[in-house]
Amino acid sequence: VKERLVIRRAKKVEYEPGRWKTLYPYKEYTVPIQSFDADSFRLTEDQVRRTGTYTVEGQTIHVLPLNNADVFRDLQRGPQSINPKDVGYILQKTAVGKKDAVLEAGTGTGETTARIALNVRRVDTYERDPRSLSVARENLSALNVSNVSLHDADVSKAASKPDGAYALTLLDLPSPEKYVSLASRVTELNGWVCFYCPQISQVKDIKNSVPNTLLHDETLRVLGEHWRVDPPVLRPQTAGPIHTAFLSFYRKVKE
Ligand SMILES: C[S@@+](CC[C@H](N)C(=O)[O-])C[C@H]1O[C@@H](n2cnc3c(N)ncnc32)[C@H](O)[C@@H]1O
Repeated sequence: VKERLVIRRAKKVEYEPGRWKTLYPYKEYTVPIQSFDADSFRLTEDQVRRTGTYTVEGQTIHVLPLNNADVFRDLQRGPQSINPKDVGYILQKTAVGKKDAVLEAGTGTGETTARIALNVRRVDTYERDPRSLSVARENLSALNVSNVSLHDADVSKAASKPDGAYALTLLDLPSPEKYVSLASRVTELNGWVCFYCPQISQVKDIKNSVPNTLLHDETLRVLGEHWRVDPPVLRPQTAGPIHTAFLSFYRKVKE
């Protein structure tokens, strides 16, 4: 069981006036409580057990208790996990809380499932791919999330749920337009349906298929940009695409 976060701070040396080179880059490790051998330093079991800052082999090492963000960072993920910037927007916009139930499909890695579950009463999530199911089970158990029902089934099986059971229905799967009627029925009045659409054509297909019980609220992209903050270098990092997906929100306005 990983219980500690070990951070090695970056170490730079000025090899000529004004010219620096990195001797050791910044690095994070999540580790169990036992002695730890990294590539350039070693910690005893006692050092790993205690929270503190050590100087080992000329490197500055912090040992900290693990938090949930560290566990999320370590989860197994697929290229298609919903980016946290998008999950954050979905949660804040819909303002689902501890009294609410959420329907999600497909589960994928379970990362989004867990991020939502930490904020609401219950999540019913549907996944039909055995490999994704097993990744999701492992991820949910690593995070100790217990308010999730992981259904080994096609999302069409959610048709057995009562009308208006969910404050939010989140669909992140191919051909979401097939499930608009289902989503409308199981979502509560004045609740939300959110479609996560990597392609703008999906946004159009949904708009052309929704019943009049759902009213389009907004469609947007949340753009994220990472910066390198390493004076004198202070600029956007060039790596990484900005586009993740379009978020298309509908409000349930009538039965
Ligand atoms: C893009 S991934 C979902 C990723 C997930 N939101 C996450 O953050 O990890 C789409 C998933 O939907 C599943 N899926 C596709 N059609 C489905 C259906 N009709 N019912 C249930 N799951 C479905 C796929 O197996 C795939 O794992």
